[in-house]
Amino acid sequence: MSSQMRRIALARRPSGLPVPEDFALKEAPMPAPGAGEVFVEVTHLSLDPYMRGRMDDAGSYAASVDIDGTMVGQGVGRVIASRDEAFAEGDLVTGMTGWASHAVVPAQGLRKLDDRLPPTTALGVLGMPGFTAWTGLRDFGRPKAGETLAVAAATGPVGSLVGQLAKAAGLRTVAIAGGAEKCRLATERFGFDAAIDHRACALREAIAAEVPDGIDIYWENTGGKVLEAVMPLMNTHGRIPICGTIAWYGGADGTEDRLPKVWRSILVKRLSVNGFIIFDHWDGYPAFLEEMTPRVAAGDISFLEDVAQGLENAPAAFISMLTGGNTGKQIVQLA
Ligand SMILES: NC(=O)c1ccc[n+]([C@@H]2O[C@H](COP(=O)([O-])OP(=O)(O)OC[C@H]3O[C@@H](n4cnc5c(N)ncnc54)[C@H](OP(=O)(O)O)[C@@H]3O)[C@@H](O)[C@H]2O)c1
Repeated sequence: MSSQMRRIALARRPSGLPVPEDFALKEAPMPAPGAGEVFVEVTHLSLDPYMRGRMDDAGSYAASVDIDGTMVGQGVGRVIASRDEAFAEGDLVTGMTGWASHAVVPAQGLRKLDDRLPPTTALGVLGMPGFTAWTGLRDFGRPKAGETLAVAAATGPVGSLVGQLAKAAGLRTVAIAGGAEKCRLATERFGFDAAIDHRACALREAIAAEVPDGIDIYWENTGGKVLEAVMPLMNTHGRIPICGTIAWYGGADGTEDRLPKVWRSILVKRLSVNGFIIFDHWDGYPAFLEEMTPRVAAGDISFLEDVAQGLENAPAAFISMLTGGNTGKQIVQLA
C-alpha cells in the first residue's frame, strides 16, 4: 500500500457554478486510526447537489468546508484497520469519508453493508437520496390515490424514487427532465405517466396538457422555471415538499422574482409547503431500509447510476451534475 492518500480539497469558494479551479487534488500521509476509529479504503464516492452549499461560507443548516479542507461526502469502502470491536478488516462499510482515497472515520459514523446488493446502492436508492424521497413523500407529500404528482430532476435518485412510490400509491405521475433521453427513461424505466423536456418546450403549456386535473403534489427539486410553470397549476389543498432548489445553487437563474404572487397562491389555494432536510429524519432510516431493501433486491424498484472513474475526475463530474450532465445517481469509482 502506498504511504500517501489522495484527497480533493476546496481550493477557493466558487462564485456561481463551481469551476475546476475551485478544487485541488492533494496528497497526504496515510492517517492512522485512534481508539474507536476505523481506517477505510474508499471504493465509491457519492456526489450530491447539497455539496455545492458546503462550498460557501454563508450560514446554512450544516457547516461549510474550510479552504484546503477535504470536500465533504459519503463513501463506500473496505475496512483496512479497525480500533473498534464492531468492525473488522475486510468489512464493507459506508460513512462520511469525504472526497478521498482513504479515511479515518469514527466507528459510530459507519454502517456495515449487506454484500448481497451492489455497494453503490448505499449511496443512492438505498442511501440518503432514496431515504429523502421515501420520507418526504410520505410525511409532506401525503399522497392519495387518484391525485397527480409532478417532479423535476425526475431521473435522479430522488425524483425517480418519488415517481415510483407515487405511482405505486395510485397517483398520476408527471416527470420534468432535461432532454429526450431522460424523458424516455422517465416513462419507460421509472413508469411515469408522462415526461416533459424542460429544455425543449413552453413549459407551463406542456405541463398543463399532462395534468388535466391539476397538480396535487409538486415535489420541489429545482425551483426556477419549473416552479414558475407549476405554481398556477396547483390544486387547492395541494402539497409542496421543498426538497431542493438546484436551479438556484449557482445564484440567480434569470427567472423573475415572483415572491408576492407565490405567497398569495399559497394562501388562496391553502397549499402546504414544507421545507425539509433529511438530516432531521435519520431516526426513520432503519424502517426505510427494512421496507425498501427487499423491493430493490427484487427489482420492484428501478434505479440508475452514473459512474465516473477516478478521484481526480470527481470535480468535473460534480460540476456536470449540477447542470444535468448526469443520468442517474452520480457516483465516482476510485481506482
Ligand atoms: N432536502 C434534503 O434533505 C435533500 C436530500 C437529497 C437531495 N436533495 C435535493 O433534491 C434534488 C435532487 O437531488 P438528486 O440527488 O436526486 O440530484 P440529481 O437529480 O441526480 O441531479 C440534479 C439534477 O437536477 C436537474 N437540474 C439542474 N439544474 C436544473 C434546472 N435549472 N432546472 C431543472 N432541473 C435542473 C438536472 O436534471 P435534468 O437534466 O433532468 O434537468 C440534474 O441532473 C436537489 O435539489 C438536491 O439538492 C435534498
